[in-house]
Amino acid sequence: MAFKSIDIFALSFLLLLASTVSQATVFDLNTYGAKPNADITQALANAWKDVCAATSPSKLVIPSGTYTLTEAKLLGPCKAPIEVQIQGTLQAPAVMTKASDNWVVIERLDGFTLNGGIFDGQGKSSYGKHCAKTDYCGKLPINIRYNFITNSIIRGITSLDSKQFHMNVLGCNNVTFDHVTVTAPEDSPNTDGIHIGRSTGINITDSNIKTGDDCISLGDGAKQITVVKTTCGPGHGISVGSLGKYPNEEPVEGVFIRNCTLTNTQNGVRIKTWPDSHEGTASDMHFEDIIMNNVGNPILIDQEYCPWNQCKLSVPSKVKLSKVSFKKITGTSSTPVAVKLVCSGGVPCENVEVADVNLAYSGPLGPVTSVCKNVKPILSGTQTPSTCATAAA
Ligand SMILES: *[C@@H]1O[C@H](CO)[C@@H](O)[C@H](O)[C@H]1NC(C)=O
Ligand SMILES: *[C@@H]1O[C@H](CO)[C@@H](O)[C@H](O)[C@H]1NC(C)=O
Ligand SMILES: *[C@@H]1O[C@H](CO)[C@@H](O)[C@H](O)[C@H]1NC(C)=O
Repeated sequence: MAFKSIDIFALSFLLLLASTVSQATVFDLNTYGAKPNADITQALANAWKDVCAATSPSKLVIPSGTYTLTEAKLLGPCKAPIEVQIQGTLQAPAVMTKASDNWVVIERLDGFTLNGGIFDGQGKSSYGKHCAKTDYCGKLPINIRYNFITNSIIRGITSLDSKQFHMNVLGCNNVTFDHVTVTAPEDSPNTDGIHIGRSTGINITDSNIKTGDDCISLGDGAKQITVVKTTCGPGHGISVGSLGKYPNEEPVEGVFIRNCTLTNTQNGVRIKTWPDSHEGTASDMHFEDIIMNNVGNPILIDQEYCPWNQCKLSVPSKVKLSKVSFKKITGTSSTPVAVKLVCSGGVPCENVEVADVNLAYSGPLGPVTSVCKNVKPILSGTQTPSTCATAAA
């Protein structure tokens, strides 16, 4: 009998322990004085102090409503896993009072979840004012920065009208972006949807990105990046690069883009490097099951990427590209050159594979065609256009 009561005591103690472990302590931003239509910058900073100090898993809830947020720094390391659940809309100031490239910064967190919320950068008034000649728009805020976060999930959020890149991922490891929405006008400059650099194991899935620049762009040190079931357009397409502009760039390694649809984008899937560049490598990059709807340059390797004549085109790129595949890519091109593989004369592309490509062009500029330079791709399956059939111009 005595044994049994001890067992029951132990069991209920364990159950209590289990429930406190699995049930997060909830912090409600309202209790920190947040009110709809008011500025919550201070309330959020105060709440974050408590949440970050909590020694068991906690959840910070921002209730529904529209709030002004001047800036937010959700900085770790914190003591336990944190979920931030946003039911409302956060609005950045439309007019900046000081130059800054930050708005919401999420940094050095492990086991973090960001769940829902609309991040409205209110960029419409700044578009076109800062960067008429180049893509560099000066110090304008990126809607959300993820710096050095690990084992985390970003789910169901919306980024609206960022003044610059919508989201920047730097130094992160094992982060999944699920059901992320990005919306900005087609003519908004430098508003990349998700830019990933120096990060490993990033998954983007079931997302929808409409913007003025790259849908997803991968910078140096992007490794094991997977993008699936994501739609892009308008915008500039999915890009690796541009690479080679700076010394000591880290390799790009392991890029898997699958089951994505691009619509009315300026480019499709593209790898771009600067001529007259620094050394670098990018390898193991695979694009498969991609649907193109009225897309410019649907399949594109461009090692002569030199916008606004900022470089010497006569000096070849020193970024070596290898193990690249384009498979099962179908739909329509808005340019007659549907497959363009322009590799470096200094370090030609190696091990490029093109399989089952069927792209139509119906404009007035002639038949659908392909252009190749410094590459001998391995071809199989359907080839429309006939990849590298004509010698380079
Ligand atoms: C990656 O992060 C997810 C979400 O936190 C976690 O469940 C998973 O265990 C992590 N994977 C590894 C290999 O650490
Ligand atoms: C990311 O995607 C890859 C390939 O689909 C998968 O193996 C990996 O487990 C995923 N990681 C996470 C954190 O979901
Ligand atoms: C990806 O696309 C292929 C070909 O259209 C299809 O067979 C497959 O089921 C798709 N996978 C997912 C996860 O949607």
